[in-house]
Amino acid sequence: MKRISLLLLLMSVFGITQASIDNRYHLGLSDEEKVEFLSEMRQMLNSIQQITLGIGTGNKAMIIKAAHYAGNRMARATPQSVKDKTPVSFEQIGGPTHMMFEELAINAAEMDEDDADDMKYLLELTAKLMRNCLACHQAFTVN
Ligand code: HEC
Repeated sequence: MKRISLLLLLMSVFGITQASIDNRYHLGLSDEEKVEFLSEMRQMLNSIQQITLGIGTGNKAMIIKAAHYAGNRMARATPQSVKDKTPVSFEQIGGPTHMMFEELAINAAEMDEDDADDMKYLLELTAKLMRNCLACHQAFTVN
């Protein structure tokens, strides 16, 4: 019994338990890259929050601004050193996610903010876009 707890202690000290439980793909970002990458992620969450608020309150301008923020502009802002570390499977989710934000902005521009069905449609697009957030988080870790 004592031996087992000693083994468990050593495993947790060396992070073995964490690595074996977390079977996502490890991107191996440096501390600096993590700070920048995760801050971009929080911006995306911010955009989602603004988009849903814009839909709920019928504010097209708010939706469009927030969607553009997480669109192509953000795709271009990803540091080259991070891009070099991410596999094709990562980019296959990441690229389309930014494009879907642009699509959302284009769709919002064509909608009537006082029409409940139009706003409902935008909410559905947002939820579909968020499948990409889920898929990527399921598969990758910055560590
Ligand atoms: C192409 C991959 C990818 C996509 C798409 C993606 N993320 Fe992430 N995100 C990550 C990774 C990797 C992490 C770090 C997870 C980890 O290491 O446990 C992360 C972390 C985060 C975090 C935590 C930030 C922090 O400070 O720790 C938030 C918030 C987040 N993502 C929001 C989103 C939202 C919202 C979307 C969709 C609009 C999204 N992400 C789409 C890859 C992605």
